[in-house]
Amino acid sequence: MNRKRISMAVCLFVAACGGEDPEPAAEPIAYKDMSFAERVVFMNDVVLPEMKEVFVAFDPKFEAMDCATCHGQGATDGTYTMPSAQIAPLPGTEEAFLEYVKDPEAARWSQFMFDEVMTRMADLIQVPTYNPETHADGFSCAGCHTMEVPPGGTP
Ligand code: HEC
Ligand code: HEC
Repeated sequence: MNRKRISMAVCLFVAACGGEDPEPAAEPIAYKDMSFAERVVFMNDVVLPEMKEVFVAFDPKFEAMDCATCHGQGATDGTYTMPSAQIAPLPGTEEAFLEYVKDPEAARWSQFMFDEVMTRMADLIQVPTYNPETHADGFSCAGCHTMEVPPGGTP
């Protein structure tokens, strides 16, 4: 069955397709073009439910996930500034990070964050994920976590 036939078949059951000249669906607004208020709605309707699912699959304690899980204080004061100082700061150098993930719990969390959280979040806000070769300014751990400043230097 071709696509047209399928959509016609579906229309038999969907009242909304009834009209002769159906309204085209409104183009969704790109995240970057959203106003602050539109971002609040988008976070509520799309980001929180999707990310909660991702987090709960990793640990059921995230059933209680809300805006503050990512935004910390920013969810209370209404600024929603990221990164959040209330999420654990991560080591700011490669050496320090390699040291950090020798701890199996830190490694387990980091793997989950890298595989699931970072990529899903980047997709949701429609930006590329960090890649030193192609997207050095892409979305990374630092989109949510603050980075520890190494002694005597910037991260
Ligand atoms: C999984 C983590 C996560 C959750 C949960 C989450 N957010 Fe966000 N939110 C982000 C990130 C990351 C950004 C920054 C995106 C960027 O880099 O521009 C952001 C950006 C925003 C912004 C835009 C801020 C600005 O300066 O433009 C608003 C507003 C916002 N979030 C509101 C909310 C609300 C309200 C909730 C709860 C319904 C929520 N967020 C839940 C991760 C999250
Ligand atoms: C979309 C936001 C977001 C991104 C991107 C993100 N994280 Fe996280 N991360 C969180 C949140 C939220 C928590 C805290 C969960 C909680 O409250 O227990 C967390 C917790 C962690 C923890 C556990 C810390 C602790 O001591 O409890 C580690 C480790 C971690 N993240 C590493 C990473 C790494 C490494 C990356 C990049 C590969 C990354 N995260 C990217 C949101 C993010």
